[in-house]
Amino acid sequence: MCGIAGYIGEKKRIKFLLNLLKKEEYRGYDSCGIAVRREKGIFVKKNKGKITHLEEKMSEFDFSLGIAHTRWATHGFPNQINAHPQFDCKRKIFLVHNGIIENYSRLKDFLTQRGHHFISHTDTEVIPHLIEELGKREPLPKALIEVVNKLEGSFAFAFIREGEGALFLAKKGSPLNIGVLNQGFIFASDIPAMVPFTNRIVRLEDEQIAIVGKDDLKIFDFAGKEVIHKTEIVDLAPGEITKKNYAHFMLKEIFEQPRVMRNLFKFYVNDNRIEFKGLNLREDFLRRLKKIFLFACGTAFHAGYVIKYFLEKFCCLDVSIDVSSEARYRELNLTADDLVIAISQSGETADTLAAVRKAKEKGAYILAVCNVLGSTLVKESSGLLYTLAGPEIGVASTKAYTAQLFTLYLFALHLGLLRNTLQRKVFESILQELKNIPRFQEEILKRVEEIKKIAEKFSKFGCFLFLGRGINYPSSLEGALKLKEISYIPAEGYPAGEMKHGPIALIDEYRAVVCICLQDALYEKMVSNLQEIKARKGKILSILNYGDKEAVALSDEVIYLPRLKNSVLSPLVVAIPLQLFAYFVAENLGCEIDQPRNLAKSVTVE
Ligand code: AGP
Repeated sequence: MCGIAGYIGEKKRIKFLLNLLKKEEYRGYDSCGIAVRREKGIFVKKNKGKITHLEEKMSEFDFSLGIAHTRWATHGFPNQINAHPQFDCKRKIFLVHNGIIENYSRLKDFLTQRGHHFISHTDTEVIPHLIEELGKREPLPKALIEVVNKLEGSFAFAFIREGEGALFLAKKGSPLNIGVLNQGFIFASDIPAMVPFTNRIVRLEDEQIAIVGKDDLKIFDFAGKEVIHKTEIVDLAPGEITKKNYAHFMLKEIFEQPRVMRNLFKFYVNDNRIEFKGLNLREDFLRRLKKIFLFACGTAFHAGYVIKYFLEKFCCLDVSIDVSSEARYRELNLTADDLVIAISQSGETADTLAAVRKAKEKGAYILAVCNVLGSTLVKESSGLLYTLAGPEIGVASTKAYTAQLFTLYLFALHLGLLRNTLQRKVFESILQELKNIPRFQEEILKRVEEIKKIAEKFSKFGCFLFLGRGINYPSSLEGALKLKEISYIPAEGYPAGEMKHGPIALIDEYRAVVCICLQDALYEKMVSNLQEIKARKGKILSILNYGDKEAVALSDEVIYLPRLKNSVLSPLVVAIPLQLFAYFVAENLGCEIDQPRNLAKSVTVE
């Protein structure tokens, strides 16, 4: 899950290419590199670490054709040798790649027997050597067709070759898009990365190659047949992918949530009626539905887990939720009468795609809950619930999480009404409260300084437990994940009722416990969990409702939330203080918040 980018056209300063690459650095940032054509030939520069470090080591110069890469290492340590571009024996073909070549060791043996010498530990290096080998007997476009049909796995790659005035691109399984400039072309893994430069985009489909000249673009399928391509105008404002006045994308995206919720309500609700244009599902199928399977990873999995509780309660359905990396290998009893809901911000998460493909083989209907139109998941699903959160750049997901929740709450309300398992007055009460959620979120965001102070106090703790019950058990999982991801402090989310069965052994005066203890049916149960922790001197930060009398007395610090009439919606407000808490603990520890170590924004490899 690297980022690749490139340009062809009139002379430009190298800064242009580096700025384009920086726009997708969230895809991987352990090493990077460029290969560009200059007067004296192709100039290559690679580096361990961030693009800024590479930039510091280079002077400014002009170029007219070039490729670039920012890496998330899968094969071979992050170092200068394994950084991309990789090249052939004669250093004439320079290539950048995102994805995994699964048959690379067989190809490496085949090429080594033909005298090729490999210098890196990457899977990628086989591609330029294969182009070199097959290029001995075929001119380039033909040789490239042969190469892509020999590669197994997922790939999006681009290369330039000494003496050729064009970019060569190929896509299968990993994202790759082309941007049309007034003069020339750019390409990148992600469309938002190109928006500051152009909104005219050509999406490369799977099993396609593109040959991009200074003034023309030709696309072929993997059989070599030319494909007519269309240029679409993408509706993304460049401002959507800048930090504006925020210190980090994550903080900006936390503060964008009320606006995202309002947009979702406007988009899907009309006059108290919920309408899903992309659902593409027959009502009778939904009425007789017996079981829903939810597949997702990471934060998206937590959103699915919250909705499982809501669907069971208001739609009288059997709901199973699985992390996709397990679901893809489990013997799931799926039939054509079942609905699979696949949740993914990026729509490119390899495990979720694999679980979906397995479910499709069994005839299940796939509904994607996704934030990226045109992503692989959206293309491979039968229906779509678009989460409209806008580009999410911070690796730690925030606004996409609450957007997934909000959209799925609306879907479950729609389903409950359709199946007559939800009374109209309950439907309207919950719908009305969903409309007020942005206001509640804004209220909490106003108290950011208060949460910052609490987080600074707690950032000295070396281990955290997050506890919740019922629909806020998944909220505790999400709170723990946010803290782990950006502060690297070990943290675990746990159903509070499980404490006595083991984790309570962890509690002493050096342990911090974040308890979600709202005025709902499980309040008293949560209070007794707080008492158990207090009795063992654990330090407690509680998330409570205004006016709380009992839990407040047991807590060392409290973050108050407005009380909702429908507590089933509380995960939408609980998320905000948990996100801010993690953010300020990480900030206090000086962590790299937008690009945490070892992570990447979308996990496109298994
Ligand atoms: C969340 O903060 C992480 N970035 C990660 O867990 C993420 O949720 C997971 O990789 C799933 O990504 P997706 O929603 O794009 O499929």
